[in-house]
Amino acid sequence: MQLFAIFSTLLLSVAALPAPHNGEYHPPTQPDTGATPTLPSGHPTKYTPYLFRFPRAKDGSPVVNTEDILTSLQPHGFNKSHLHHKFTATMNGFSADMSEHCVKILKGMLPPSGVIIEPIVTYKVQAPLPTNTPQLADTPNFGSANPVSKPVQPPAPGITRLQTQSDATWGLQRISQKQMIPVDFNASPSRAASPVFNYTFDESAGEGVDIYIIDTGINIYHKSFGGRADRVYTAESLKNDPKEGVVDRAGHGTHCAGTTGSRAFGVAKKAKIHAIKVMGGEGGGLSSDIAAGIEFMLERHRNRTRDDPNFKGSVASMSFGLDVPDEERDGDSVSTSPILERAIMKANAEGIHTVIAAGNQGIDACRVSPGFLSRKVYNGSDFEYLASVITVGATDIYDNRADFSNHGPCITTYAPGVAVLSTFVGNENSTKVLQGTSMAAPHVAGLVAYFLGQDQSLKTDVIGMKKKVMNTAGKGFLHNIKDEMDTKILAFNGV
Ligand SMILES: *[C@@H]1O[C@H](CO)[C@@H](O)[C@H](O)[C@H]1NC(C)=O
Ligand SMILES: *[C@@H]1O[C@H](CO)[C@@H](O)[C@H](O)[C@H]1NC(C)=O
Ligand SMILES: *[C@@H]1O[C@H](CO)[C@@H](O)[C@H](O)[C@H]1NC(C)=O
Ligand SMILES: *[C@@H]1O[C@H](CO)[C@@H](O)[C@H](O)[C@H]1NC(C)=O
Ligand SMILES: *[C@@H]1O[C@H](CO)[C@@H](O)[C@H](O)[C@H]1NC(C)=O
Repeated sequence: MQLFAIFSTLLLSVAALPAPHNGEYHPPTQPDTGATPTLPSGHPTKYTPYLFRFPRAKDGSPVVNTEDILTSLQPHGFNKSHLHHKFTATMNGFSADMSEHCVKILKGMLPPSGVIIEPIVTYKVQAPLPTNTPQLADTPNFGSANPVSKPVQPPAPGITRLQTQSDATWGLQRISQKQMIPVDFNASPSRAASPVFNYTFDESAGEGVDIYIIDTGINIYHKSFGGRADRVYTAESLKNDPKEGVVDRAGHGTHCAGTTGSRAFGVAKKAKIHAIKVMGGEGGGLSSDIAAGIEFMLERHRNRTRDDPNFKGSVASMSFGLDVPDEERDGDSVSTSPILERAIMKANAEGIHTVIAAGNQGIDACRVSPGFLSRKVYNGSDFEYLASVITVGATDIYDNRADFSNHGPCITTYAPGVAVLSTFVGNENSTKVLQGTSMAAPHVAGLVAYFLGQDQSLKTDVIGMKKKVMNTAGKGFLHNIKDEMDTKILAFNGV
């Protein structure tokens, strides 16, 4: 309260100052009298999209009132219809198009510490998109049959009843056995992408768990989702774009969703799958829109925790990254969006298990946002996994790290990410083979949902879950790992 009083005084004194911009002089604007402010003539008309994050008091209440800030900026030419999002759950802040002039004034008014102002940047999906979207129905009718056979193996500890799917993808077989898949190296390369493998899993299959696909949307009518997928959030900028809307225009989100939990291609075949559409048909999304999607997810997670006694936990699957520019690939620069990263960590800290694609540039994953959030922390004697998000690199059927996969100490685990068959857009039966760390991350997101379905002791224990994923993973199998600091492990469901 006291801080806010000081701050309000600051606002008033700033509002009373002459407001120079672009070197020109403009007459002083009127102090805010509550009447509709009249805009100074000749105010700047060049706007840049920005994210703003303000500190909170020790008790969690906002130190700075976003609404007051926006109102006080209006006399300086801020147009409230240029506001995109207001954030209250993941942070105290907002995103808006703003002139440099207003940003300068805002900086002058703010308390000096804890404020972040950053330009909005574009994150990209971590898989090359097929060029012929959206007319894709290349394997019609596949994936609609019942692929799940009756139990064939005796239960193992912690397992109620095992099932085997005998027409699974190679990725599902790989995460349900410790050893490499016996591969005929002379077989045609397309064999890896065909559904002739065995997936062994506990029949709990992630029931009661919410998986959020923060991506390009989901083809929720695909038969392989069996009605378990829905659309819970679409960023306004996409919803209002007639070429976008709520549907998945790229197929990427549908593919990732299919790997987490579709009946034919998914790890957690009974989980609920929720589309948070924050990226468009070209596979890109604004940091502000992604943060808004995460804000929604966190609010929904809080509601689910409060309202549903059968709710078993939330998993966020994030197959996107902020690439390091090609000309800096050999350097040591790190891509960042501190505000988005803090939103991700806030949701994670409240118990949403968070799985992130490591990125496809073949560089150290610690250089790429948000993959680097999983970094190990050296505590003086050893590395500890204090950073509780899970970052996933990609392997192929021969247990090689894919050449494109980022690597190094920020990799929590590897998972299948080459020749991955899954659900797609086009019609209710469409499928597609894609590759990328985008495809590896949903294998692990599905695996976390699967673990939650089996064992509620880690419901919101994100560090415990990360340890479980790492302790269960297969060790000593991977090839093409050149980085000494790399974790060198491959996701496994422990059956
Ligand atoms: C505010 O922005 C909207 C949308 O860009 C525009 O239509 C409107 O005229 C602007 N208002 C003022 C007062 O500049
Ligand atoms: C999808 O597959 C089902 C079952 O084979 C079939 O009945 C249906 O017509 C197919 N839909 C399309 C659009 O091909
Ligand atoms: C799948 O399981 C069957 C029955 O155990 C076995 O004959 C077959 O070789 C397995 N397939 C693969 C790819 O391991
Ligand atoms: C959470 O629940 C409140 C009601 O308690 C509701 O107003 C709000 O829309 C819900 N939010 C989400 C994201 O589900
Ligand atoms: C550092 O981490 C290791 C591994 O988790 C742990 O055994 C050790 O006690 C930690 N040391 C300190 C100083 O915290």
